[in-house]
Amino acid sequence: MDKFIIEGGHELSGTVQISGAKNAALPLMAATLLWPGNYKLRRVPALRDTATFAKVLETTGAVVSLQSDVMRIDTRNCDNAEAPYELVKQMRASFYVLGPLLARFGRCKVSMPGGCNWGPRPIDLHLRVMEALGARIELESGYIIATGSLKGADYTFPISSVGATGNGLMAAVLAQGVTVLGNAAIEPEIVGLGDFLNSLGARIAGLGTRTLTITGVDELQAADVTVIPDRIEAGTFLIAGAMAGREVTISGADPSHLGSVIDHLRQAGVTVDIADSAVTVSRPGAIAPVDITTAPYPGYPTDLQAQWMALMTQAAGPSSVHEEVYHDRFAHVPELTRLGARISLKGNVARISAPTALIAAPVMSTDIRASAAIVLAALVAEGSTEISRVYHIDRGYEAIEQKIAQLGGAITRVSDPA
Ligand code: UD1
Repeated sequence: MDKFIIEGGHELSGTVQISGAKNAALPLMAATLLWPGNYKLRRVPALRDTATFAKVLETTGAVVSLQSDVMRIDTRNCDNAEAPYELVKQMRASFYVLGPLLARFGRCKVSMPGGCNWGPRPIDLHLRVMEALGARIELESGYIIATGSLKGADYTFPISSVGATGNGLMAAVLAQGVTVLGNAAIEPEIVGLGDFLNSLGARIAGLGTRTLTITGVDELQAADVTVIPDRIEAGTFLIAGAMAGREVTISGADPSHLGSVIDHLRQAGVTVDIADSAVTVSRPGAIAPVDITTAPYPGYPTDLQAQWMALMTQAAGPSSVHEEVYHDRFAHVPELTRLGARISLKGNVARISAPTALIAAPVMSTDIRASAAIVLAALVAEGSTEISRVYHIDRGYEAIEQKIAQLGGAITRVSDPA
């Protein structure tokens, strides 16, 4: 398992290119299962998670290749509507195949994902929306067996869910009649999925609003698509720039997806300049303490909560983090504490005492975004921090060490065959 060694205290400056979004690429990959054809997805990030999802597609009979950032997927010979536990347990997003496989084959078998490092992550809403569309759902030896030919229906999600909205959307595209999904997710990744489905011939109205109206169609045709920029990677580098940078620019981003993080950075006293697809952060003085509360889009993203906490350890006073999306998502707290952060946790609220001088220590990567927070903290810690188990970060950040090194950070990957 690889490690990172980061020597803190090297100022970051320069420009970094943002990759395509993992969380946008995965549902697009799933959507290619809906209709037999040859698809080309551009700007797909080379990540552990996209590689895992490629294996899920291959299990169904698809042929997948990734060359530079172009993924070709041929779903013409898919004949196995199944996603095995070995893959779904590695990545919950594999569950995205439920909707398209059911819509195409009228039957599918998808493993339940099981546990997660950040507490319970149920799949009940994915199942309820399929049932609303007329599917019969059974549980057999840890697998969900879904059967039925789907019919348009009205279904309102009790809470906003990105994954369940995506799954419901894919299932409804080929259902007979009209489906209305209420309280749908409006994340850019869902809009990206809906736009792609429409380019295949689907009829989805209301993308980017809380009500999606899907008029079922009888057939689709394959098409090409470009994945939107990764707003979480972009936000992570903006926070890195605010913490450890003189002047850091991210390019190839979509600033309209970064509203909440940019607002919070400005409140913290960070100068943020936006020019088309580039955003530059520079810090004129001390970082002001700013509280955050995570929320569905367009609120402050839970996927940037840990990174914000790392930034706030360097603020001129205390602040708090309210985690409202995943109440237990605090795996980074003990690791940041090992680096000297002073954080108290009560329920879903963390209070950060600051400023704190962070000091290098051996730490462990626990999940994708927690790992990013640890990397940011290590960039400003005194001494050399060793971060083990970086495969978590490889799931979601493309070539992060190369991008940080390009900005002047002192980071090395050490391959450890153990
Ligand atoms: C997606 C993202 C993840 C991000 C999260 C919230 C992908 C691959 N992952 O995850 O990085 O942190 O959105 O922005 O895009 N819920 C239920 N029942 C369900 C489904 C969800 O109760 O069946 C709850 C969850 O526990 C959570 C909330 O709904 O409290 C939102 O979760 P959801 O939007 O579904 O997250 P994911 O799609 O799994």
